[in-house]
Amino acid sequence: MTIETMTVYKQDPTPIYKQIADQIATRIESGELASNTKLPTHRWLADKLNVTVGTITRAYAEIERRGLVEARVGAGTYVADNSKPSWAFEQSSIDPNEYNFGYNIPPLLDRSNMVKQAMQRIASSPSHLNQLMLYQPPSGLEAHRNVVADWLKTKGIKLHSHRLLFSSGAQHAIQMVLDTFTRAGDTVLVEKYTYPGMISLARQNQLTLKGVEMDELGITPESLDVCCQRYSPRFVYLTPTLQNPTTAIMPEERRLEILRVCEKHDVYVIEDEINSLLLPCPPEPMVNYAPERVIHIGAFSKCLAPGLRVGYLSAPEKLHQKLVVTLQTHSWMISPILTALTCEMLASGDAERNLTLIQQEMKKRIDVALGSLKQFDVRYQQGGLHIWLTLPEHWRLSEFVSQADAMGITVKSGELFAPPGGSVAPAIRLSLSSPQTIEQLQLGVDKLKTLLLSNTVSTYTL
Ligand SMILES: Cc1ncc(COP(=O)(O)O)c(C=O)c1O
Repeated sequence: MTIETMTVYKQDPTPIYKQIADQIATRIESGELASNTKLPTHRWLADKLNVTVGTITRAYAEIERRGLVEARVGAGTYVADNSKPSWAFEQSSIDPNEYNFGYNIPPLLDRSNMVKQAMQRIASSPSHLNQLMLYQPPSGLEAHRNVVADWLKTKGIKLHSHRLLFSSGAQHAIQMVLDTFTRAGDTVLVEKYTYPGMISLARQNQLTLKGVEMDELGITPESLDVCCQRYSPRFVYLTPTLQNPTTAIMPEERRLEILRVCEKHDVYVIEDEINSLLLPCPPEPMVNYAPERVIHIGAFSKCLAPGLRVGYLSAPEKLHQKLVVTLQTHSWMISPILTALTCEMLASGDAERNLTLIQQEMKKRIDVALGSLKQFDVRYQQGGLHIWLTLPEHWRLSEFVSQADAMGITVKSGELFAPPGGSVAPAIRLSLSSPQTIEQLQLGVDKLKTLLLSNTVSTYTL
């Protein structure tokens, strides 16, 4: 499939210049047309495809607008060299003696082209651009909510667009819920090991967190039942898919059991499904079964890019309006330009393509990590960004974390995931997406393996 094999379909409703641009773009994106390849002259391609020279000029202008080719004065049109590293990918920015497993971020793939193209599409309509510069209703533009609701539907998440609210990431969505519906002194139930951002929010809002017992599928209905009776919580906050930190994925049957317990005690669930967007086939979210019992939270931070700061929530009808008021009080609205940018990437299919790359990259990274660490007690899921490693018995958690740190290896201690007063897992979370390169990941896990196997002599005091 080269440029010579291109064809245009005059009956196709897509304009001919766009058909040509799309076909060249596909060849560039697949690597078939390498960087710096010279495209045929306008005249040659026009004759070949039996179209006018003007159509080719327009097609080339379109792919140039998409950032895929560049016109070099007097020399013709060339496939752009997008392999030039941006600042974040420069080798020099990687400290070869540091191995950072700290952050659940999407792996550092080059997204610059995708973002640039989305920006260009937004910029191509002055009226749209001007509209995005104005105040909007707190719940955002309907068109944006529709794009997000439609995209989420393809992921099996059924949210009504009129109930969607944007947030500045999932953390802000949780904050909105807590600010709206809790008061100092209230209790919120969480998984026994929970997302540290929730622990910070609870501290700030003077809430008491109580951990619910978990097994390998997530919280157990029996423990939830007991905790609801004992603590009369305002909410149960859960990360049911790719649980942070244990990686557990709660199956649908368990979700239904949890919902039955919440129904019995009349407790709302805050379902944080930010990580489910990483999986090709996640289980049905709880909100699908019980939209009047569940506040569903998500964000594009893991499956697309955290820098967008675009998240969303959808609450039961009777809670919705209060959240709108909170959003307005916090910041009037979420930046429409950022939601527009996100929607462009969702609607164009670029977000999905980016997600496929993330999934492919994570598969490689999990293989590398397991290659070194499989002899230990490791919990992981294909598609997840992190693994959860229980330390061998000869290691004390704090000692291990500080020795790793002394070797330049950053890991997240089990301590960070324990709600205040809760038990601490003798485990560490390793974000496999966090090292900038696979090579760095490989070196890091090899060093961790050596450290895990080493028998340090602890100093005990009487
Ligand atoms: C379970 C969970 N919820 C929420 C967040 C925060 O996401 P955001 O960056 O969209 O605020 C994270 C980030 O690590 C997370 O792991």
